[in-house]
Amino acid sequence: MKILVTGASGLLGSRLVRELLSRNYEVIAIYNRNPILVDHERLVKVRLNIVDKTSLEDLILKTKPDVIVHAAAYTDVDGCERDKAYAWKVNVEATRSIVRAARVVKSHLIYVSTDYVFDGEKGLYKEDDVPNPVNYYGLTKLVGEELVRASDLLYTIVRPSAIYGVGGSKKSFAEYVAEKLSRGEKVYALVEQYVSPTHNTLLAMAIAEIVEMRPMGILHVAGERMNRYEFATKIAEALELPVELVEKASVKDMKYWVAKRPRDSSLDTSKAKSLLKTKFYDISLALELFKQEWLEAKSR
Ligand SMILES: NC(=O)c1ccc[n+]([C@@H]2O[C@H](COP(=O)([O-])OP(=O)(O)OC[C@H]3O[C@@H](n4cnc5c(N)ncnc54)[C@H](OP(=O)(O)O)[C@@H]3O)[C@@H](O)[C@H]2O)c1
Repeated sequence: MKILVTGASGLLGSRLVRELLSRNYEVIAIYNRNPILVDHERLVKVRLNIVDKTSLEDLILKTKPDVIVHAAAYTDVDGCERDKAYAWKVNVEATRSIVRAARVVKSHLIYVSTDYVFDGEKGLYKEDDVPNPVNYYGLTKLVGEELVRASDLLYTIVRPSAIYGVGGSKKSFAEYVAEKLSRGEKVYALVEQYVSPTHNTLLAMAIAEIVEMRPMGILHVAGERMNRYEFATKIAEALELPVELVEKASVKDMKYWVAKRPRDSSLDTSKAKSLLKTKFYDISLALELFKQEWLEAKSR
């Protein structure tokens, strides 16, 4: 089976490529500015800016993947607010191209969306709760979802929340916390913002299972609900770093934020739990994996 992955150099995509290769699939992996740090005889790496519709559609039409995992996005929430035209091109127009080409070659499309499609007034959102994004990033991701749903494709929309782990080009919140604490520096983490921190390796394993099962519709694949402060504390405990260096912060202190964030965008994952074998929601397992991966990356 042939799988095309966009966003293959990102936090999720870098783990997903490894996971799919380990399951013996052929993988076509798209990256743009940052490299994919793995080589394999079944891996074809393609450097492509997905804003270039013609090249993107041509690649899909030529390679005819059985499944496309569309994980690429302009994920900088404040950046999307500042440059709405670019956010629209990457998150909406590129998704439109993928849908168009996927229909021709009849690929199953797995669209990676976000908890930020919700306004955060309720928390523990279920798949059929009504989205109402509070920022432009969330809006563009929701329009992407709607393009997928309105097509006649076979599709799965996967919504994770606050992805963390090792991999990709930028540091995730968990790596930032681990690095600061290991240098003996204080970490400030929000008490008001609730999310469902999702470990990238476990999410990649869950998506690989979805590639195999191809369930139709929306699935919330995310970790346990907690605020950022609780999450930072759990990271400190798991990595045996000084918990007392984790300090509470308030949204009022986030003066550099341009975009509004949902207060509680945590996700109810009952549906995915009943469908998938991967223990994607288990924070102890996730932090155990994170610890191993972080120590391994540090020793390189
Ligand atoms: N991070 C989170 O907390 C979070 C939470 C919920 C949902 N999500 C969703 O999960 C998915 C994966 O997120 P992530 O955290 O792995 O993102 P990430 O680390 O920011 O990586 C983004 C990926 O998209 C690629 N990309 C961006 N613009 C592109 C362009 N114009 N052309 C081609 N590729 C482009 C990047 O390629 P280069 O780096 O090579 O340029 C990179 O591979 C996204 O769809 C995101 O919306 C993320």
